[in-house]
Amino acid sequence: MDIPRLHPDTIEEIKQRADIVDVISEHVVLRKRGKDFTGLCPFHDDKSPSFSVSPGKQFYYCFGCGAGGNAIKFMMELGKRSFSDVVLDLARRYQVPIKTLEPAQKQELQRQISLREQLYEVLALTAKFYEHALQQPQGEPALTYLKSARQLSAETIQQFQIGYAPAGWQTLYGYLIEQKRYPVELVEKAGLIVTRPEGKGYYDRFRDRLMIPIHDLQGRVTGFGGRSLGDEQPKYLNSPETELFDKGKTLFALDKARGAIAKADKAIVVEGYFDVIALHAVGITHVVASLGTALSLHQVRQLLRYSESKQIVLNFDADAAGNKAAERAIGEVADLAYQGEVQLRVLNIPAGKDPDEFLKSHKPEDYLTLLNEAPLWLDWQIQQLLKGTDLNQSDQFQQSTQEIVKLLGNLPNATLRTHYIHRCAELLSQNNAHLTLQLEADLRTQVRGQRWHGRSQKWVRPGDRTLLEESEAQILRVYLHLHEYRDFIKQALDERDLDFSMAHHRFLWQQIMHIEEAWETGLVQATSRDLIAELQDRCTDFPAKLPALYPLFQLDEKTKRDLLRSPLVIRAATACMERVMCEKRCRHFLNLWEKMDSTASPDLAQYYQQQIYAEKQRIADLDRQQRQTTFADLAQIPWVGEYYEALETSQAATQAATQTASQRE
Ligand code: UTP
Ligand code: MN
Repeated sequence: MDIPRLHPDTIEEIKQRADIVDVISEHVVLRKRGKDFTGLCPFHDDKSPSFSVSPGKQFYYCFGCGAGGNAIKFMMELGKRSFSDVVLDLARRYQVPIKTLEPAQKQELQRQISLREQLYEVLALTAKFYEHALQQPQGEPALTYLKSARQLSAETIQQFQIGYAPAGWQTLYGYLIEQKRYPVELVEKAGLIVTRPEGKGYYDRFRDRLMIPIHDLQGRVTGFGGRSLGDEQPKYLNSPETELFDKGKTLFALDKARGAIAKADKAIVVEGYFDVIALHAVGITHVVASLGTALSLHQVRQLLRYSESKQIVLNFDADAAGNKAAERAIGEVADLAYQGEVQLRVLNIPAGKDPDEFLKSHKPEDYLTLLNEAPLWLDWQIQQLLKGTDLNQSDQFQQSTQEIVKLLGNLPNATLRTHYIHRCAELLSQNNAHLTLQLEADLRTQVRGQRWHGRSQKWVRPGDRTLLEESEAQILRVYLHLHEYRDFIKQALDERDLDFSMAHHRFLWQQIMHIEEAWETGLVQATSRDLIAELQDRCTDFPAKLPALYPLFQLDEKTKRDLLRSPLVIRAATACMERVMCEKRCRHFLNLWEKMDSTASPDLAQYYQQQIYAEKQRIADLDRQQRQTTFADLAQIPWVGEYYEALETSQAATQAATQTASQRE
């Protein structure tokens, strides 16, 4: 059947009108859950509702099986139907008038399609032309260079279709245009010829260079990298961006490497064409290169498709430029890396060699050994950061500490954070065990501050604020007035990874820590060790803070009563603080998610959704715990017990009274 080509406007309008909740709820029972809807996933055997639908994003996603997309995709998947079938169906249902493309527009589309086809053809022919030239007398020096200087076998040269662009201004031009009669415009669009500065005539872009074709995933040539044979600059001349060639989205040799990447469950990214070729030549084939540009998020995602456990190793040159490239690549994928969505490692070959040079004097196994020892990106960054610094110089020590805090503050996973904080404390203290302990506590406090600093104010809602403020105040009051609970409080905060959000509370907590530290190190004569007295002393230096803090030093009737039930207060208040944190993080991720383009990066969208979901679950848990504890626990506190006893007695009395009343009737 010849399906009319639908006008893009029609498709757009259908997307707008066909509400995803509407479409999906015809097939799945959906329940509202916050802003979204959830239900049982129709695409796998779902026991708990893992399927979520977002009306805001017009997007569905299953946390169980990973299915996801828009309304059209849903109908296609569910009914195993074609795109146009679904679109026409939806158009009828939502009364969207169907516009098809005018013949002229249709022709234009056709033309674009055939332009690409023709470009592929010209590029394929050009690659053959260069390959042939390499075997001709004119290609002799280039072939010798490949075989001697580069030590490449005929087989490898053939596998990578390496060729030679002859010297002379119009060799390729003569072949493609005069001999093969291709239109000049087409060859220019392929990036193979360049207009002369005066605007009259054309000349070959690549002259007297070794030609390395670049292929797309289907193995079609889309561009070239051309290496000079002597000292001519630039060393590498690449195809310009064309209809087919996008440097930021292409990885050299991915067509040849993807099977091996899947098999090794790991991808290696190197800097140069010849690094790839040299590694493939010795049988290490899960290797690709970026094309002289910084590794982009898009390229990383491409690689992640083939590695189930998401392992990528960056093997850039160990010089300043290579390290900078690694840093940039890490920056580009930092979000994914911090979330553990990619296991990124950095391999630096000793003595600043690139893989190609390394293999000239080492066995392939030596390379694999280095590969297996490559540190994780965060360890590598910490190494880089400490390299060349003298930790015995206090300014350098200070600076390194700050940079480490910045690095670790971004780690969302608490276990990993603890691990790295410990590791960094060891490094910074140069294995002085006593110092390590102190530094570790110090780093933990700083990292926590870094984590929520700045964000905290933004994400706390007014309603949270009073509740949060009261909870924090309660904890501080217990801490100040009942020293027997101090360890318990520190432990409770630590367990839940909590910090004070209110600036004045955070200030007070820091002062407390300073005072206790001074007591411990014996720097201060602790005659009385009266925390409140010391704080009042210190705070006179900060008169602006006093009004907010003073109420914590004094007790009134209500706060005295609170102290009587301290364990409960601490439990409830930390739960409240955690709840506010969860909500804050939840809103933070929700905001990120709403701002992003989830079709362009489904993995990230999924990650955000999972985070949002996890925070919501934790909030529900906290609420449940809170509801369960109150009554039974409250009864154990003397004054509360009395209160409830009285309440029960009076309730019983009322009940008895109503019963008697109804009996009478
Ligand atoms: P390198 O300068 O590290 O070259 O560039 P290399 O791969 O070690 O080259 P050989 O071994 O001397 O032949 C790494 C990559 O950066 C891009 C190329 O993609 C190259 O493979 N590059 C480099 C350019 O695009 N243009 C240049 O002028 C240089
Ligand atoms: Mn090299």
